[in-house]
Amino acid sequence: MPKVVSYLPDGNRVTEIKKGDNLLDAMLDKGVPLSYDCKDGVCGSCRTKIIVGKDNVSNPTFQERQLLGHDEVDRGLSRLACQMTVEGDLEIQQYAPRSISTTKYAPGVPNSTED
Ligand code: FES
Repeated sequence: MPKVVSYLPDGNRVTEIKKGDNLLDAMLDKGVPLSYDCKDGVCGSCRTKIIVGKDNVSNPTFQERQLLGHDEVDRGLSRLACQMTVEGDLEIQQYAPRSISTTKYAPGVPNSTED
């Protein structure tokens, strides 16, 4: 069973979860208070840094790449806990929740700064 070491604002925890489990759901089931909101890869509340084991999780989803950017995702600096399944040991750290603007302007549609 993969072991997940989590470094959280209120303390560190070591948790064993089942291989193939969704990281966020498994940690919440074990009582580890990861932050989250939508669980759909939309809000960014579950943004998580993988300190050790970035190759021990599922490949980034389209939502992760769109919300967090290719560079951060590929380097393991940011992933979405709600979008990952776990295949091996990890050390993770959650960022303080932040607002990530997903608002994009469609081409040709004026935004509020244009007249
Ligand atoms: S909980 Fe919203 S993106 Fe993961």
